[in-house]
Amino acid sequence: MEKKFVLACDHAGYPLKEELKKIFAEKGYDIIDCGTDSLASVDYPAYATKLCDTITSGKAKLGILICGTGIGMSMAANKHAGIRAACCSDTFSARMTRMHNDANVLCMGARVVGAGLATDIAELFLETEFEGGRHQRRVDLVNALD
Ligand code: RB5
Repeated sequence: MEKKFVLACDHAGYPLKEELKKIFAEKGYDIIDCGTDSLASVDYPAYATKLCDTITSGKAKLGILICGTGIGMSMAANKHAGIRAACCSDTFSARMTRMHNDANVLCMGARVVGAGLATDIAELFLETEFEGGRHQRRVDLVNALD
């Protein structure tokens, strides 16, 4: 398991992004931070694009996007070919979307989950492997929709 991921947010997600960055850096992760870097209002699709480009260009395999709800980020991320983004606010979904969907982007809402739950969700997402097998065929069918 590669201890590396890319992280991005909008203004609503900025405080949680900073908290996760600190926590996962202490856990030994190499983190590419695509911003935003303040509470000043920005448009979330621009940050989803920065993160998705980092993944599709091969600089990181997994990413985490944070906005107010996680929903806008997931909508924007899923427009990018090669990206399978899952908006999660529970640990079961975070684990299953890695095991069955081979999701490569986790989206979370800073106005939905607290920092403790967000950390657990992110940890499961980053540390769970794709199961492959019958799920590969289904992921291939999803990818064919790009
Ligand atoms: C910003 O106010 C908010 O709309 C954004 O963070 C996000 O929740 C959109 O889906």
